[in-house]
Amino acid sequence: MSSNTDDASQSAAAAGAPPALELTDIVAGYDHTTVLRSVSLTVPAGSVTALLGPNGAGKSTLLKVVSGLVRPTSGTVAMEGEIVTKLPPNQRARKGLCHIPEGRGVYKRLTVRDNLVMQCHAGDETAAIERAAEAFPILGRRINQMAGTMSGGEQQILSMARAYTRDQRLILVDEASLGLAPIIVDEIFNFLHRIVNEKGTSLLIVDQFVHRALDMAQTAYVMNRGEITFSGTSAEVAALDVFGEYMGTH
Ligand SMILES: Nc1ncnc2c1ncn2[C@@H]1O[C@H](COP(=O)(O)OP(=O)(O)O)[C@@H](O)[C@H]1O
Ligand SMILES: [Mg+2]
Repeated sequence: MSSNTDDASQSAAAAGAPPALELTDIVAGYDHTTVLRSVSLTVPAGSVTALLGPNGAGKSTLLKVVSGLVRPTSGTVAMEGEIVTKLPPNQRARKGLCHIPEGRGVYKRLTVRDNLVMQCHAGDETAAIERAAEAFPILGRRINQMAGTMSGGEQQILSMARAYTRDQRLILVDEASLGLAPIIVDEIFNFLHRIVNEKGTSLLIVDQFVHRALDMAQTAYVMNRGEITFSGTSAEVAALDVFGEYMGTH
């Protein structure tokens, strides 16, 4: 955990900033299936929150509720104190919400450049591409390559570049390290650390590398079968007896 991150979150909290995200009593699912059963969760301003739980717990569904891809049947979603429950995803994105989805979400038949263009605000393309290429030299070198012909790790980096192509307030990261070689996973976590430290952006992170996620986070939630079963500081969650059982790390 970096001291910069602590400073950023402490000063935001001290200034009485509203939470970056507040979910209250969210019930949501798909068609006739209820997945989330009255879930409440808070990401304090300028901080990192980890969301943990086994496969099928509802973590990705929760992130989709935050970004507006899944509409809750009840409950509220607030960003920086403003209720956004009924706003479509693009309007939430304009408020600085960035969802880096499970499975990367890159356009495989477009070039790296065109993917970057799709990620940024109209009118800001050139500067945004420069920022992304500076943060990730690999993207600069592959700028005209078809995204689908890059490795999984490179596609993940392209997907994460959207955190740089726009000014983000809250980033949702869903299983960014899934299926990647350890060296790429290091790069991805370094990148996330960098965003938090440089920009004071808030993060809600879901990752199978539970300890890496907890190392970055100040607070954590454990979810099972659509309910929050534990929440606390990341140290408290790391010390949970049931934790290894949940995560399959024992
Ligand atoms: N598009 C969908 N349609 C119907 N059910 C879904 C859909 N996506 C996920 N589910 C179901 O919702 C539950 C939670 O899934 P998910 O949110 O992806 O969990 P996690 O990300 O924790 O693995 C699972 O039972 C899954 O089968
Ligand atoms: Mg998932």
